[in-house]
Order: sequence, then structure tokens, then C-alpha cells
Amino acid sequence: MTKQHSRGRAWPPRPSTPGFGPTRAPAPSTPRSTRARTFAQDGVGGLRGGFEYARTGNPTRAALEASLAAVEEAAFGRAFASGMAATDCALRALLRPGDHVVMPGRRLWRHLPADRQGVHTTGASTYTAVALSDLDAVRAAITPETRLIWVETPTNPLLSIADIGAIAQLAASRNKYKVLVDNTFASPALQQPLLFGADIVLHSTTKYIGGHSDVVGGALLTNDEELDTAFAFLQNGAGAVPGPFDAYLTMRGLKTLVLRMQRHSDNAALVAEFLDESPARSIRCSIRDCPAIPATKSPSGR
Ligand SMILES: Cc1ncc(COP(=O)(O)O)c(C=O)c1O
Repeated sequence: MTKQHSRGRAWPPRPSTPGFGPTRAPAPSTPRSTRARTFAQDGVGGLRGGFEYARTGNPTRAALEASLAAVEEAAFGRAFASGMAATDCALRALLRPGDHVVMPGRRLWRHLPADRQGVHTTGASTYTAVALSDLDAVRAAITPETRLIWVETPTNPLLSIADIGAIAQLAASRNKYKVLVDNTFASPALQQPLLFGADIVLHSTTKYIGGHSDVVGGALLTNDEELDTAFAFLQNGAGAVPGPFDAYLTMRGLKTLVLRMQRHSDNAALVAEFLDESPARSIRCSIRDCPAIPATKSPSGR
């Protein structure tokens, strides 16, 4: 064997090899993208910070989950590989065979069929699609089997508005079903559905939260520990988790979310005012004719 191929004591690299094993490195001021499959333990069961295997938990993902929970005023947060992975998790956690779902009627986005298919794969054979802006229609759609009202406000892409608080009150009075709000479009910078009584917030962080068109992700946020436990079980069991770099990018997007949403809102207001003054003024585009927007501010007025 030539010297080129000989292997000294440093090969293969071991955790004890300088620079190779787990370190107690200086703490950066921003969460780092921690890439690892498994995490060092102090003996059997001696997990450091609760981390063992990366599908089950990763420090960068945990930091993202804590940040998303904080901005949605939630006690618990779970991050997923996409908004649809979060959707799938929520449907599987909430629905059982025979259950009924009330969902928005005028959604055009592409995952609508998958959404409904998701409802069917859980065995929840019925759903009713209604205009969620019409509270009487929502009330009429509820059956004894209803377990979930799926709210999206504003909707993508038609921007229909629903009154989260009123729908949550409907649920509270019957107390048998959960209200989930897909808050992707408003984002927590403009609307925090849990403060209006929703049980769960869902995000496609792929959109405004990520903000730079370079990451796909999703999230579920709640104050309900039982629900969070069910989400955590499926997050780990089904394994649709974001990688650490995706979690890192999503957190970086979150830092500028408020500024971007302010600019989006200012631009949208200018366009709406222009259309209002335009001779070809269209009722569909007019901000003056916009229905009341009950859920665009949190109860605290922030
Ligand atoms: C409002 C809304 N929710 C959820 C999703 C699904 O998210 P993702 O594409 O990250 O799976 C989308 C995607 O277009 C969306 O627009």
C-alpha cells in the first residue's frame, strides 16, 4: 500500500477528532442552521435540550417553531415541509370516519382538490363548501357531525373576507368542532386569528413569511396542548419536516415580514384609491365597496 492510501490513527474521523465531533461552540446572535442526523447525548436518555434524532427534533426547527408561535400569540408551534404537509397533518389529527367539514366555497388555488382529497382520505366523507363571509350560510352548513370549520381570510386569490371572531363564537356555542384559520395571506403581521378565538392557525410559510421565493414550508400553531400533541405525533410519524436550512431561511424571512406587509398594504391602498377614482371604476375592485374587514386588527388594536 502506498503512503497515499495508508490510514493513520485519525482515520476514520471520530467524534474525538478535532473539529469533527459535537462541539460547545460560541453562541451566534442568530440561530444557526444545525445540520445533523443525530445529537450527542450524555449517556442513555441524557438528551441535551431534548434533541435526539433530527426528524423528531432539530434546534433550528425548534427556533422557527418558537418564533412562529410567538408571532401568532400561540403556546405551541409545529413546522412542516410545506403548507400542504401542515394541511394534511391538521386533517389527519382532527378528522375521523364520518366527520363533516365546512370549508370555503370560492377557492381557486391549486391545492383545493388535494385538500378535499385529504378530507376523504381521513374517511371524513362529507364536506360543505360555503361562502364564509355569509355567517348564516356557515351556521346552516353545520351538522351534528361537523368537526372542523376551515377558514381562509382573505382567501387566495379572490381575497374573500370572513369574520373569524363570529365563526369562532359559533363554534364556542356548540363546542364540538374546531376552527382552523389558514393565515397565509394576511400573515401574523396583519391578523392573529388565535386572538379572535380560532383554535388553530395554519401557514404556508412559502409565501409572505418566507418572503424571498427561496423556500417551501408550512406551520400549525395552537394554544391547545392536546392538539399540539396530535400534531407532534404526526409531524414525527409522517416525517414531513423542514430541513434546518429551510427553517433558517424561513426565520430570516420572518424578521422582515412586518416591513414587507406594510409596503404591500401601502401599495395595495394606492392601487385601490386609483381604481376608486378611475372612470372605469369597478365595484369588484373598489375599496369603498369592500365588505367590513372585521379581522384585520387584533382585539388589542395592534
Ligand atoms: C392560502 C394557502 N394555503 C396553503 C397553501 C399550500 O402551501 P404550500 O404550497 O406551501 O404547500 C397555499 C399554496 O398555494 C396557499 O395559497
